[in-house]
Amino acid sequence: MSYFVHESSFIDDNVKIGKGTKIWHFSHVQSGAEIGENCSFGQNVNVSNNVKIGNGCKVQNNVSLYEGVELEDYVFCGPSMVFTNDLTPRAKYPKGSAGYKKTVLHTGATIGANATVVCGHEIGQWAMVAAGAVVTKNVKPYALMAGVPAKQMDLRVWSQTKRKFSMQSMWKKV
Ligand SMILES: CC(C)(COP(=O)(O)OP(=O)(O)OC[C@H]1O[C@@H](n2cnc3c(N)ncnc32)[C@H](O)[C@@H]1OP(=O)(O)O)[C@@H](O)C(=O)NCCC(=O)NCCS
Repeated sequence: MSYFVHESSFIDDNVKIGKGTKIWHFSHVQSGAEIGENCSFGQNVNVSNNVKIGNGCKVQNNVSLYEGVELEDYVFCGPSMVFTNDLTPRAKYPKGSAGYKKTVLHTGATIGANATVVCGHEIGQWAMVAAGAVVTKNVKPYALMAGVPAKQMDLRVWSQTKRKFSMQSMWKKV
């Protein structure tokens, strides 16, 4: 096997996992999921049915990638961040797969710890979502989003007042 799965994790049948990928403790990858090469999944990660994940992604502890979520290459999901796939869930009236809304994280996007991405949105390439933010709209490429609901921060202002906030280091490509 060209990838690593900790013995406490479950990988269903009909799953594709690329070489060099590591799946740590207490995780579950469900049928139909496709995971690229050199990805890393922390503890207690769930990859639901048919989820597609590119190469070089890093998914931290306690993240569930629900059906309808797609990660392109080099996406970072911070610890305990939350995806959703149903805008108006009701226990009595489940919609099933056809009712799920798609959420796409484009190449290099980062989601901070404990942030929530409301479904049906795209996070642009190399965008960064701050810890604890709640994303309720599409995020532009390279944008920095923070707050509840998440608003786009003005990077020129932020980087002038906060000299440490260097665009180059923030979006250094892998
Ligand atoms: C958004 C972020 C990149 C900004 O970092 P930074 O430039 O060092 O920011 P600073 O700490 O200098 O804060 C700048 C301002 O933004 C505010 N701020 C910082 N992080 C924030 C957040 N997550 N949500 C809302 N506001 C935030 C600060 O309170 C500060 O406000 P002020 O100017 O009114 O005092 C960083 O705070 C963050 O959330 N990173 C994600 C960390 C993470 O989740 N990592 C996961 C792997 S461990």
